[in-house]
This record gives sequence, C-alpha cells and structure tokens, in this order.
Amino acid sequence: VPRYAVFGNPIAHSRSPAIHQMFAAQEGAAIEYERILAEPGRFAESAAAFFAAGGLGANVTVPFKTDACAWADSLSARARAAGAANTLIKQPNGQIHADNTDGLGLVADIRRHFQVALAGKRILLIGAGGAARGVILPLLECRPASLTIANRTAAKARELAETFGASAAEFAELPAAGFDIAINATSGSLSGQVPAIAAKVFTQCELAYDMAYGREPTAFMRFAQNAGAQRSADGLGMLVEQAAESYRLWRGFSPNTAPVLAALRAGEI
Ligand code: ATR
Repeated sequence: VPRYAVFGNPIAHSRSPAIHQMFAAQEGAAIEYERILAEPGRFAESAAAFFAAGGLGANVTVPFKTDACAWADSLSARARAAGAANTLIKQPNGQIHADNTDGLGLVADIRRHFQVALAGKRILLIGAGGAARGVILPLLECRPASLTIANRTAAKARELAETFGASAAEFAELPAAGFDIAINATSGSLSGQVPAIAAKVFTQCELAYDMAYGREPTAFMRFAQNAGAQRSADGLGMLVEQAAESYRLWRGFSPNTAPVLAALRAGEI
C-alpha cells in the first residue's frame, strides 16, 4: 500500500489523514496516510526515516515548513519563493522534491468556493510571517490591481513587499474602503487576536478571508463583517485545496474537493 504522512508538532489534531483518505476513496485507491510527530530540530531525521522506509510523499505543517524546504534535494519555484514547503515528493531516482501548495490552495478556495475573481482586485494581505510569505507569489500570479502587505511590525512587510514587488503599508495608514479582498495571515488569529486595523478599511470588502479556522467563525471574520465586509471565510477550504494539490502531485489524480469540505464542515470526518 502506498505510504504518505503529515509531519508537524503538534500533529494529533491534523485533519490531513481524513482528507487524504477521502481523496483516495474517490480515486478508488488504497493508501496509508499517517500523522508523524517530529521533535523540534529533528525534522530531517524523521523525514529521512520515513522515506527510507518506503514513504512516497509527505505533507509538512507547523513548525517544519522551513526545515522541509532546506532539507529537500530540489525545490519548485513556488517553494523557493516561499522559503517553505508543505509537500514532499519522492522522485523515481530516490531524491526528494519539495513544493508548496498553500498559495494555490488559497487561490483555488477563493475562486472555487466563493466564486470571487482575484484579477483586477485590490488585495490586502495582513501579516508578514511564513504563512503570508507562502501565498504572495500565487496571489500576484492572479494579476490583482494591487497587493498591499500590512504587518504589525512594518519593517517585515516592507521587506516582503520589496522581495516580491508588492506594496507595503502600516496598519494605521491603510486607506478607508481601500480593498476588495482582505486576507488575514497572522498567527494571532489562531488565539482570537484581531490585527489592530480600523474598521473603515473593510467597508468595500467583498471577501474577508482568514487563513485560520475553527468550529465557530473566527474573531477576524466577525470583526470584518461588523466592519462592513460583504462576506467572510475561514481557511478550512484552503486546507482542503492545498491537500488536493498535494494529492495530485503525488498520484496524478485531481480530487473533487467540495464533498470533502462539506464532510469537514458537518463534522463527519
Ligand atoms: P506563521 O508561520 O504562522 O506566519 P510567523 O512567521 O511567526 O508565523 O508570523 C506571525 C505573523 O503574525 C507575523 O506577521 C506577526 O506580526 P509581527 O511580525 O508584528 O510579529 C503576526 N501576528 C501575530 N500575532 C498578531 C497580533 N496579535 N496582531 C497582529 N499581528 C500578529
């Protein structure tokens, strides 16, 4: 049986095994997909052991995406740009290729599930850590009218904007009604902290997207909707879409994501 895994710390909560087993059922294939808890600083050993034992592919989550990028034998352009990898693929020659499907997952979710076009839009990306960095290139490839990166620590936003050819702005100087799509990539969202951005910034927003997710709408989603955003979304769809792209890279089969997202929302998987 082909073996796959997801590496992270913590990892017990990961939904990836359930998601990938649903994809395998769609394909009519039997796969093994396990959670592997790696110790901080020991990702390379864990991953090497898994692939030496016959593993064919792996997902990588917090906090090992940078380690995975450094450890792999080769990188896709988008993994190199992100400086982080969430997908590892064993090549026929035994080498490990790293890719990053997070940005594609975000873009696919915004387009497919929310039917929102990104081309020509004014996009605000909040945050300048690893999660933000990973989605900049795929967002720019959608040809938005503008991509503005804003971060609590402004220097980090400026640095990213320079690297990728986007714009940067401080929280306090973001224009009122200035954006069509706002994407929250701050880690504080996981613990209910909302970035200190004025409500007036969101009044023209057609979609406020939080890369975090939970059982309830996130604090950022509630804040943006109260501020006048037409719709808000959490990152569960991005999770499913990035997984589907990983699955396609491993197996050449494109899963249907809608029933998998529905099953997750319904708490069935
Ligand atoms: P990740 O890999 O999840 O992106 P990270 O690289 O540690 O994690 O980056 C965390 C990001 O969330 C940063 O942009 C951070 O802002 P700073 O650079 O100013 O630290 C942002 N962040 C975390 N908590 C936040 C909060 N309460 N308000 C605003 N931004 C926050």
